[in-house]
Formats: sequence, C-alpha cells, structure tokens
Amino acid sequence: MANSGVTNSQRSSLHGNWSSKLAFILAVTGAAVGLGNIWKFPYMVGMNGGGAFVVIYLVCVFVIGLPIMMSEIMLGRRGRRNPIATMRILGKEEVGHEKWVLAGIIGVFAGFLILSFYSVIAGWTLAYVFKAAANAFANTDATGISNMFDAFVGNPFVIGFWHTVFMTVTVFVVALGVEQGLEKAVQIMVPALLLLLLLLLGYAINSGGFMDGLRFLFQPDFSKLNGEIVLSAMGHAFFTLSVGMGSVMAYGAYLPQDASIVRISAAVVVADTLIALLAGLVIFPIVFANQLDPAEGPGLVFQILPLAFGQLAGGGLFGTLFFLLLSFAALTSAISLMEPTVAWVIESFRLSRKTAAIVVGFIIWLLGILTVLSFSTLKDMKLFKGTPFDNFDYLASNILLPLGGLMVAVFAGWIMCSDSSSDELDPAEGYIYRAWRLLTRFVAPAAVLIVFLHAIGVFE
Ligand code: TRP
Repeated sequence: MANSGVTNSQRSSLHGNWSSKLAFILAVTGAAVGLGNIWKFPYMVGMNGGGAFVVIYLVCVFVIGLPIMMSEIMLGRRGRRNPIATMRILGKEEVGHEKWVLAGIIGVFAGFLILSFYSVIAGWTLAYVFKAAANAFANTDATGISNMFDAFVGNPFVIGFWHTVFMTVTVFVVALGVEQGLEKAVQIMVPALLLLLLLLLGYAINSGGFMDGLRFLFQPDFSKLNGEIVLSAMGHAFFTLSVGMGSVMAYGAYLPQDASIVRISAAVVVADTLIALLAGLVIFPIVFANQLDPAEGPGLVFQILPLAFGQLAGGGLFGTLFFLLLSFAALTSAISLMEPTVAWVIESFRLSRKTAAIVVGFIIWLLGILTVLSFSTLKDMKLFKGTPFDNFDYLASNILLPLGGLMVAVFAGWIMCSDSSSDELDPAEGYIYRAWRLLTRFVAPAAVLIVFLHAIGVFE
C-alpha cells in the first residue's frame, strides 16, 4: 500500500490489480458488515415502530448512502492520503483553499465517538461467545435469558473487562498493521454469517410468530413516523454503510485505478442491506412468538438470539460460532473506525504506527467507560438524549455522519469539476454517471438538509 504521492489519474497499482481489487472489496465489506447490521438495525426497527422505519432506511441507503459511498471512494482514490489530508489536498487542487479539511476533521471525530461505544457492544458479543460455549442458554426461558442479560450489562466491571479485551485486540491489529490477513477472513466470515442467519431463519419460520414478524418489518404504518424517527433511519443508513466519516475514503486511497467504483459500491450496499434484513427476519418472529417487546432497545439481539440457540439442536455450537463470527465482523468494522484517526495522528504528530494506535486506543477506551456505565451506574441519566451511550450514538450517527456525508456529496458533486469525477467513475456507463451526479448534487444534499430541518421542528 505504499504510495509515491503523485496525483494519481494515470497511476496503476503496484500490487497486481486483481488481488488488490479483491482486497479492497473485502476491506469495505468488512467495514460495512458488523454490529450495525445484526445488533443495531433490529433494535432501531423495534424502537421506531417497524415497517415505516424500514422503508425510510431503505430509501436512504439507496438514494443517499450509495451515491455518497461512491463519492467517498472516489475522493479517497484521488487524494491517496488519510481523510483529513485527502480533503486538504483535493480542496487545494479543485478550489485553491483548504477549508474542506473540516469534512475530514468531522469524520475523524465521529469515528472516535462511534468506536468508544462500538467496542463496548463488541465486548458483549465476545462474552456471549463464552456463554454460548458453556451452554448457558439451554433450558432457559425468555425471562431467564433476559435476567441473565440484565445481570451481565448491569455489572460495569464485567462489561468493562470485555470492552478492554476488544479494544486491546483492535489496537493490536491496527498497531501491527496486519489488517490484510483479517480482511481475507471476511471472505469466509460473511458467507458463514449468512449461512447461520439462514439456519436461524428456519427456526424463526417455525417459531409461530413469522407472519407477525413479517408484518412488523414490512407493513409500513407511516402515521408512526416523525422527524426524529426519519432522522434515525437516515443516520442508521450512514452508520451501516460506514459512510460519512472517511472510513471508505481511507480505503479508497489504496484502490487501483481501473477498479469499478460503481460496481463495487453497489455490491457492498446490497450485501450489507441483505444481512440487516435477514437479521430482522430472524429476530422479530421470535419476539412475537414469545410475546416479548420489540422496543426492548440495545439488548434486543442479546435476548432474542439466545432463545433460539437454547432450543435448537446443536444450539451450543451454533451459538458459539455465531457470536464468534459476529465478534470478527465487529473487529473488521472497528479497524475501519480507528484507521482514519491513527493515520492522521501518524502523519500529523510524526508518531510511529504502534505509538499512535496505543495512544488513540487508550483515549477511545477511556471514553468507552462512559458507555460501560450507561447500563448500570448512569442508566437513569436523562441528560439531553439520555445516557452517555445515547448521546454518543445520537451525536455521531444522527448528526456527524450525515453532516460529513453532506460535505462529501457537495464536494464531489459541486466543487470537483465533472472532468475529474467522470474520469474516476466509469465513463463508459454514461447513464450511471449521470444518475450519480444527479443524486450527489441535488437529491442527497437536499434530503439530508430536509431531514435535519424536519427533525429540529422547522416544518411544524
Ligand atoms: N458499518 C459498521 C457496522 O455496521 C460500523 C462502522 C464501521 C462504521 N466503520 C464505520 C459506521 C464508519 C460509521 C462510519 O457495524
């Protein structure tokens, strides 16, 4: 991934094109598929009333998320630096000043915030690997499993421990720069995760709640929507695709010039969406079959899937495997959350990769303690959006990511000259380029702005 610093329009990759194209696809898929799909999507759908949220989320994914992902990769490939440096370089190149660096700064800050709580939830996943392996879900009913979860997250030392373990592993991988091997694992991990979800789907279909689950997920009741819910659906579209903070921009820096940004983005977006919908199709039938509450919140997945594993033949093994795969998926996402900050710290403060990773990791870990406490000591806090976890998630997902995405879209659609962008995005497929340009210039920025204004009540 070394790169000589020339502007790159005619540069070809030094690594052999096919293999680095594949590595890139795996890296972006690894960043996109994670807790967002399996933990966050179902509980957000549950808390926000079901189908209508899903419809808005899907519209945002394809109308806002997809074009912005293409833009981000494109900017990354042109800048070939960490996101902050890339925005500085491209701003200078296209308009002669550096103010666009703000988009990069917002991104680094968002990644920082997200990883602080992401690591805590990934820690829960790690702990559940061991619970499943110890057969803790067998012969336990919904109440038992829910009590187990409450006792678990209510103990800040226990979940603090698992947060520490996860953060240490993440720092280790980023410090050694050994992402490559891990990204290869995505090739096995994502299909295996899909397979296990299909197995669980079989269980969900026979659970007795399948029709209720389907209806909840796909029968929209738009009267349930309000500005805040629409904003959450949009924020989640950014979160699940990993766009709006420079993750895919950082990866785009290593993309060979002849790789089709359009095709790669479309494939990643479709795969990410399928996994999320599949997770929903598994979770909600089990919720309704057991008369549980879909609006349970962040604990939803950790209380529903163990029920299925407790009753499935071989559930101990499948459960262990499932939470293990999910932990790996979380790790590849966590790496992508940390990489932009670490790359920026290395370049700005002239630290070694190892030192940078440890320093950044330690600060994120420290911030994560506030999320650890959000499920016990600070559980009843009602500051602004609630607990520190609620506030970090809200600020990052609903404000910083859409804001970062908006800036990327405006830059790619309005500031960058069309010669540069058509140069990057397959000129052979002219109508796709025109569609991208329309979405990026008008639709995505307008949508983000309208949702923002709506959420703060301007239209009431
Ligand atoms: N998309 C990942 C998930 O769904 C999380 C993630 C990784 C992310 N990189 C990101 C979210 C960058 C926002 C921005 O689990």
